Amino acid sequence: MVWKTIGDPIVNVSSRYSALNVSGMRMVGFNNIELISDRSVETNFREIYEVKQRWPDCAVIASLMFDTRERWHEFVKRSADAGADGIELNFGCPHGMCERGMGSAVGQQPPVTEKIVGWVMEAATIPVIVKLTPNITDVTFAARAARQGGANAISLINTLNSITQVNLNNLVPEPFVGGLSSHGGYCGPAVKPIALNMVQSCAADSEVRLPISGIGGISNWSDAAEFIALGSTSVQVCTAIMHYGFRIVEDMIEGLNDYLDAKGFKSVTELVGKAVPAIQKWESLDLNYKRIARINYDKCIGCNLCYIACEDGAHQCIDLVPPNGHGLGPGRVPGKPIPQVREADCVGCNLCAIVCPVDECITMVSINRGQEKMSWSDYQEKVARGEMKPIPAHP
Ligand SMILES: Cc1cc2nc3c(=O)[nH]c(=O)nc-3n(C[C@H](O)[C@H](O)[C@H](O)COP(=O)(O)O)c2cc1C
Repeated sequence: MVWKTIGDPIVNVSSRYSALNVSGMRMVGFNNIELISDRSVETNFREIYEVKQRWPDCAVIASLMFDTRERWHEFVKRSADAGADGIELNFGCPHGMCERGMGSAVGQQPPVTEKIVGWVMEAATIPVIVKLTPNITDVTFAARAARQGGANAISLINTLNSITQVNLNNLVPEPFVGGLSSHGGYCGPAVKPIALNMVQSCAADSEVRLPISGIGGISNWSDAAEFIALGSTSVQVCTAIMHYGFRIVEDMIEGLNDYLDAKGFKSVTELVGKAVPAIQKWESLDLNYKRIARINYDKCIGCNLCYIACEDGAHQCIDLVPPNGHGLGPGRVPGKPIPQVREADCVGCNLCAIVCPVDECITMVSINRGQEKMSWSDYQEKVARGEMKPIPAHP
C-alpha cells in the first residue's frame, strides 16, 4: 500500500476530477488536478504508525515530496521511524507541485533526479523507490538517473498531462474551477499502453537494472499479468480502486493465481519479464512473415464492419459476395451479401479482426510460405550484395 504523497500540506481546489467516457463506458480515462496530501505531516505519519501496528504484515510505502536536502533527510528518517517499509519519491506529479520546483519538474531533468535521489540515500535506512513521470521524451534517461543516484527501485508511470474535455456550453474545460480549469494528470485504462511501453523500455535497458513497480490503467488480473510479463516485480492500482473499490484486489489475486496455475508457473516471479525480449526494434522483425484474415461464417452476423473498415481505411481486400454455400451466423439476413477476404491481397494488418464485434469471428492465421526469415537489415545487406533485387513498391 502506497500512501498519498506527504509534503508541506497544500490547499486543494474544487472541483478536481474529470473523465473520458467512451460509448457508454465510464472512466476509460481519468484526470485530476489534485495535489499532494492536504493533511498535516503529523497526521500522515501517525496514521502510518497505526496502520503498521494493526497490519504488520502489510507493506506500507511512504510517498514523499520535499524541496531541500535537509527536509528530504528529515522526512526520510521520519518515514522509517513511523514504521514505513519503504519510501517512494514522487518526482512525477505534473500539476501544481512542478510550478514550485517539485514533482515532474524534478523527474523531467535526469541530473536533478540523480542529485535528489543521492540526498535521499544519504539518510535512507529502508528501500527507496523513485516514481517516474511519463511526461518526458525517453523515460529510460530518468530511470538511469535514479539508478545513478543509488535508488533501490523505480515505479512508473505517474499521470500524463491532459485536458479530457471542453464543456461546449460554457467553453471551459473540465474540471471546472470558478470559470477556469487547469492541465490535469491523466490515468486509468486509457494510459495502460503508454505505461506498458515505458515499463518494458526500462526493463530492457541494460543501464537501468532495477526492480520495477508497474502502474497505469491496471483494472484486473490480466492487466497486472501484462505489467509483470513486461518486467514489473510489483504493481500499483489507483484509478480502478477509485472506480470500483478495494474489493477488486481480491479478484485480481484470484485471477492471477488461476492464470499462473493454468500456465504451470510455480510462482509469480517466474512470469516477471517473460515478454520483455519479444519487443525488439522494428528492423529486427521478419519481413517474410505473413498472416491473413479468416472469417468464421458460423459466427459472422453480417454487420459488414470488416468490409467497410478494409475498404475505406485499409487495403481494399475484402469483397462483398453472394452468401452461396456459407452457413448463417446469428442475426444474419438471408441472402444479404457476405464479406470475403481476397487472401492473396490481404496484408494481415489486423484491422478487420479489431473492428469485428464478434469474438473469434475473424482470426488472423499465419501462412507458411516456405521462406527463410529476413529482417530489414538482412534485406539491405542482400540487396547491397546483389543477392536480391529491391522489393518493388505496390503498384
Ligand atoms: C486522484 C489522484 C490522486 C493521485 N495522487 C498521487 C499522489 O499523491 N502521489 C503520487 O505519486 N501519485 C498520485 N497519483 C497517481 C497514481 O498514483 C498513479 O501513478 C496514476 O494514477 C496511474 O495509475 P492508475 O491508472 O492506476 O490510476 C494520483 C492519481 C489520482 C487519480
